[in-house]
Amino acid sequence: MSDLGAFPSGFLIGASTAAHQIEGNNTASDRWALEAAGASPMVTEPSGDAADSLHRWPDDLDLVAELGFDAYRFSIEWARAEPARDQISRAMVQHYGRIIDGCRARGIQPVVTLHHFTVPRWFQRGGGWTAPDATERFLSYIDALAPILEPVRWIITINEPNILALMTRFGGRRSDGPDPDAEFDLPGVPMPAPHGATVAALIEAHHAATDRLHDHHPDAVVGWTVASQSISAVPGGEDLAERFFEQVEGRYLRESVGDDFIGVQSYTRNVIGPEGAVRDDPDDTRTLTGWEYWPDALEQAVRDARRIVGDVPILVTENGIATADDERRIAYTAGALAGLQRAMADGVDVRGYLHWSLLDTYEWGSYRPTFGLIGWDPLTFDRTPKPSAHWLGDVARTPRTG
Ligand code: BGC
Repeated sequence: MSDLGAFPSGFLIGASTAAHQIEGNNTASDRWALEAAGASPMVTEPSGDAADSLHRWPDDLDLVAELGFDAYRFSIEWARAEPARDQISRAMVQHYGRIIDGCRARGIQPVVTLHHFTVPRWFQRGGGWTAPDATERFLSYIDALAPILEPVRWIITINEPNILALMTRFGGRRSDGPDPDAEFDLPGVPMPAPHGATVAALIEAHHAATDRLHDHHPDAVVGWTVASQSISAVPGGEDLAERFFEQVEGRYLRESVGDDFIGVQSYTRNVIGPEGAVRDDPDDTRTLTGWEYWPDALEQAVRDARRIVGDVPILVTENGIATADDERRIAYTAGALAGLQRAMADGVDVRGYLHWSLLDTYEWGSYRPTFGLIGWDPLTFDRTPKPSAHWLGDVARTPRTG
């Protein structure tokens, strides 16, 4: 068992996934086409069948319930719900409705993401998020989902707009070459600057989607999720760190002021010096994504969010580690949860913790970085919970305080 204190009453503990990363055969999506084209250096293998959760979602939900988790975050795949423009697949919408009902029947709180990085290929071909009718198209997808979303309390409009806006610069998001509207880069920071027009489009889409969801379901708790960078500065790096924070995190967090909640996602930290990123963690301590092993990142992430969003409730919608060493996953998660409790003891309003990821997933180009609490056999798709799944299940089963 862990040495953690008790979480407050109503605090949710569970795990997250995203459709493209676990379902398999997401053939109408932009990402499937990108993987097939083999043109992106970031894609070393295609997603293929993934964990076949398209068919095996009842097994996944059974495991969530058996482990003792309160909540499960998953995404609805727009490319399945609307595989061709204006052609809603009622069967696929009902499929996702069954997953929502399946959560509720097992006593699991569904946390539903409407857009997690992938879009239908027709949407991308028509200009993607910067097309003039992008928001209108997103709203019409939401209208099609409205009946199945009726019992859902927690709804995420867009996953990590800050990473999505960077992806337009990494290649693979757009097929038309270098981006003429790219903002200037900050010298020396570990990421390029996001694409300005995409940022504006995503902000517009988020607010419009939030209003539309409230029109359909006034009681829904709606927000988006932001990837925290847990930025700090060494002497001389303060100005650069502040500009970096604003570019890749602050402006997205500010858009959440007035939302029902903000989803915070955290994995590692970024330390900035006068010339840019500073790293001294030895190679052999890095995680399978090459990130620094830094469990305290989550504590900083929620404190940074609180500083910008004020009283808007926080839900940790992703936190985890890519590792083949499951003991390390337990140590990382225990450290992250201890930091979360320190922040909560100081008054940061956190409503739940969803670990990334329930299953080993397709990590946007490769299956090698394994984030899952549950592994699966690539031939039979049989699931095997790792010790970390049981460990987090024990945390979830520990009674909450009043
Ligand atoms: C994304 C996930 C991804 C995870 C680990 C987040 O950026 O929402 O889709 O798998 O981080 O890289």
